[in-house]
Amino acid sequence: MELAVVQEKIIPLDELNPAYLDRGTFFGDGVYDVMRSYSGHIFAFDDHIARFEYSLREIGITGVDIEAIRRKIIYAFDQANIDDCMIYFHITRGSALRSHDWDSNIEHNFFLTITNLISPDPIKKTGVSVCSHQDLRWKRCDIKSLNLLPNVMAKRKAHEKNCFEAILFDSDGNITEGSSSAFFAVIDGCVITRPLGPEILSSVTRKYVKLIARDLGVNFIERPLTLDEARSADELFLGVTTRDILGVVEFDSAVISNAKVGPVTRLFEDAYAKIVKSRSSSLPSLS
Ligand code: PDD
Repeated sequence: MELAVVQEKIIPLDELNPAYLDRGTFFGDGVYDVMRSYSGHIFAFDDHIARFEYSLREIGITGVDIEAIRRKIIYAFDQANIDDCMIYFHITRGSALRSHDWDSNIEHNFFLTITNLISPDPIKKTGVSVCSHQDLRWKRCDIKSLNLLPNVMAKRKAHEKNCFEAILFDSDGNITEGSSSAFFAVIDGCVITRPLGPEILSSVTRKYVKLIARDLGVNFIERPLTLDEARSADELFLGVTTRDILGVVEFDSAVISNAKVGPVTRLFEDAYAKIVKSRSSSLPSLS
């Protein structure tokens, strides 16, 4: 008899819940995205959907009805009725007995969770400490894939050092991004961040930081940053959907901006909050 064992239980294979045979579990064969809401409104919905479509396309998951995905997300958001929430969703290639190649007719699996976010975010007041970690990821970090082992290992190492985030650096000693965030330095009044490319995720927060820089007349420079430059920067901040802009006050034990969230970072935080407010009325609904 072909069978599976789930924890302590033996289950005949033909009775097994297909969720156990998800290629996402076997291979990380799927893509995800994370959006959030502020005060009952989803922020940057279309940006996240566009990135999700890109990720799907890049790993060859085809035939997904994106309109149906939009509707599912909005419906779930309405049902959850949480003002400040995180919306996580993924699509995997589907469920099948473990085999590296796949059947093109496989049915994709969709999964979504909606969970609370704490608002206001207490760590935004004090800022956070970060530390560097070698970037051990694959060469297509522009795809928001479910393969996150190097990210979670780096994050764990950072937490063991009482740091909030691991800042990843490549073989040339240049920073790519955080294990789950975009990374920015403020040097001589300019905001500097890694150029978009296969080495980093096209962060939605980064997109808005760039727009804010333009509006504020701040020079936004897209170039690789060295670890030494980051450790001696005037200010540092992270960008991630769940926290938007988050000041960094320590990098590898080097104190940044007198251990306080810097003034340029605060300007960007305030401008970001204004964008969030101004966009609240133009968000999608079920109708
Ligand atoms: N991660 N870079 C990486 C590697 C990320 O995982 C994330 C976000 C970002 C920031 O992207 P955005 O601004 O679009 O949130 C950059 C999410 C939130 C996660 O994996 O949970």
